[in-house]
Amino acid sequence: MSGRRRSRPAGTADAAEPPMEATMDYASGEYLEDTSQAAAAELEEFELEDLEGVGRVTAQKLRQAGYYTIKDIAFASAHELAAILGSEERALGIIRAAQRALNMGKLFMTAKEYYEERKRIAYISTGVKALDDLLEGGIETRAITELIGEFGAGKTQLCHQLAVMVQLPPERGGLSARALYIDTEGTFRPERVVSMARYRGLDPERALENIIYARAYNSDHQMLLVDEARKLVEEQNVKLVLVDSLIAHFRAEYPGRENLAARQQKLNKHIMQLARLAAVYDVAVVVTNQVLAAPDVFFGNPLKPAGGNVVAHGCTYRIWLRKGKEGKRIARIIDSPKHAEKETVFTITDEGVVDA
Ligand SMILES: Nc1ncnc2c1ncn2[C@@H]1O[C@H](COP(=O)(O)OP(=O)(O)O)[C@@H](O)[C@H]1O
Ligand SMILES: [Mg+2]
Repeated sequence: MSGRRRSRPAGTADAAEPPMEATMDYASGEYLEDTSQAAAAELEEFELEDLEGVGRVTAQKLRQAGYYTIKDIAFASAHELAAILGSEERALGIIRAAQRALNMGKLFMTAKEYYEERKRIAYISTGVKALDDLLEGGIETRAITELIGEFGAGKTQLCHQLAVMVQLPPERGGLSARALYIDTEGTFRPERVVSMARYRGLDPERALENIIYARAYNSDHQMLLVDEARKLVEEQNVKLVLVDSLIAHFRAEYPGRENLAARQQKLNKHIMQLARLAAVYDVAVVVTNQVLAAPDVFFGNPLKPAGGNVVAHGCTYRIWLRKGKEGKRIARIIDSPKHAEKETVFTITDEGVVDA
C-alpha cells in the first residue's frame, strides 16, 4: 500500500545526537534503542496496517473494538483478540508482530535489567511527607494504587490533591502533567482544587484546566470512559488517572448473591482495562474503594475492602485510610509487594491533605 510509512532508525534524520542509552548495531550502523519508550515514540507514526498480517479491513475491525495503536495490540491477550480476528493463532501472530515492533521480542531479562527498567518508573508526591515516606516516594506510575476506606475517610480529598500534585514540576514532587478524573459518585468539587492549587503555589485557573473531568453514570459508561481515556492520555500529557469510586456502580447494578459472579467478571475486565492503561501508557492509576462489614468475622478487623479477590489481586498497592482521634487520619499499607505493613498519620484542612 502506498500510504505506508517506512521505518527509519532513531537519531538519523534531524537529531544531531544519538538517543540516550543507544547501543551501536555494528552490522547496519544504525542506532538501536533499547528502551521501549523510545521505540514507542518512533512508532507513533505507524498505523495498525503496518503490522505484518494486518490489512485495511482487519485494522478497521481492530479500531472498532478499541485497539487503536500498536501498543494496544502488543499488550492484548490472544484470547480477546481472537474474537475479532477469527482465531487465537492468528491473534498470537499479530500480537507477536506488534511486540517485535515495540522491541518487546525479548522474552527474558536479567533481574539487573529489570531493576534498571524499574528505575524509569516515576512517582507523584501525595503532598504529605509522612504518606510519601510510607509509600517510599509517592504514587507510582505503571501501577494501580487503591485507596480503601469508610465514608469520610478522606479518599476523595486525596484524589483531588493528587490531581493537583501531578501538575507540579518534578523537583516539587509532580510530573508536570495533567490528571484525568473519573467521578462515579458526583463528589468532585472544583472549589477544593482551587484551594489546594493555591496552597501549592499553582494558578488555580490553570490547575482546573489541567484536570480532565468525566462523570460516569453507570458501570458501562465508566468502562467506556476508560477505553476513551487511552486516546487522551498521550495526546494530553496525562500522567494520572483517578477513578472515584471504582465499584460503586458495579455494586448498585449487580446486587445480591445471584449477581455476584457476573459482577465480578465485569469488574475484573474493568481492572484489567485500568492495569493495561497504567502499563502501556506509563500512567499512575488511583482508584478508591469502599469497605464492608464482614458478618463472618468474629476476631480481628470486621471490615474488609469491597470487590473481593478481583480487586485485591488487580491493584498493585492498597492503602487503607481511617479516621483517628481529633480529626486525624491514619493510612496503612496492606498487601504491598514492596512495602512492609506499616501506618502513618495525616490530616485534612482547608488547604488540602497535609502532614499532621
Ligand atoms: N475544606 C475542608 N476543610 C477541612 N476538612 C475538609 C474539607 N473538605 C473536606 N474535609 C474533610 O474531608 C472529609 C471528607 O472526606 P472524603 O475524601 O470526601 O471522604 P471519602 O473517603 O468518603 O471519599 C470530611 O468529613 C472532612 O473531614
Ligand atoms: Mg468519596
